[in-house]
Amino acid sequence: MIALDGYVALVTGANRGIGAEIAHTLGSLGATVALNVRSDASGARSVIERLSAEGHANAHDVFEADVADPAAVDRMVAAIVERYGRLDVVVNNAGITRDGLAVRMSDEDWDAVISTNLSGAFYVSRAAAKAMMKQRSGSIVMISSVIGLVGNAGQANYAAAKAGMLGLTRSLARELAPRNVRVNAVAPGFITTDMTASLPDAVKEAALASIALKRFGEPVDIANAVAFLASDAARYITGQVIAVDGGMTFV
Ligand code: NAI
Repeated sequence: MIALDGYVALVTGANRGIGAEIAHTLGSLGATVALNVRSDASGARSVIERLSAEGHANAHDVFEADVADPAAVDRMVAAIVERYGRLDVVVNNAGITRDGLAVRMSDEDWDAVISTNLSGAFYVSRAAAKAMMKQRSGSIVMISSVIGLVGNAGQANYAAAKAGMLGLTRSLARELAPRNVRVNAVAPGFITTDMTASLPDAVKEAALASIALKRFGEPVDIANAVAFLASDAARYITGQVIAVDGGMTFV
């Protein structure tokens, strides 16, 4: 049984898609959720209204920061700890794509994806780990990708960032375990969100053909895995990667 009553959880990139769904799921299970947005907060506010309407009216709030800006991240995490007095769960979900073949990829597209997806996860985890180590408890969950496991033509920047998150997961898991802070990753497969909506039909059909369960995933499928890893039900799990991909990548 998963319960998150009394937990304070930060979800980055929580204005839409998978992040918004993770925030909703953690809030539904009793957590007080700090929803990070880069600028537009309308989707995050809708999540809070939905939670409230469903009877989960904790002191959820929106915290603005670009995760690729380490000073802004430090200020955000300090504000969350000051506001709630603790930080139990961090979900590094914020991410972008700038697809293109490697030989034609600009420095800007490489840097933007590494900065947001990989450095952002590091900055947020570093700031949160300080609070969690003092508390002697915590759970950090990285939203990586199956692309980080198997690679993808046209996504060298994204695959490198998502694979980097797995090295970050395993290293942080080793560093923080003595203070009872667990670090794990979820590797989503093809999930129906704005990020995947714009892909050409041929790409979607090829993806579907490679999924054993023969359907795309939904944001709640990722949120459920995150809720488990965040909770005490996963208290003996650290340094792991769970692919939530409908059987796309298993060997
Ligand atoms: P999305 O594009 O719908 O949402 C991403 C969210 O991150 C947006 O709210 C955006 O504003 C936020 N964000 C982007 N840059 C940010 C920054 N610098 N600071 C703060 N927030 C920022 O994407 P989706 O599909 O919901 O993806 C969420 C995560 O899941 C991403 O890390 C993505 O790489 C990962 N993922 C998604 C898959 C899919 O099939 N949709 C598959 C595998 C991984």
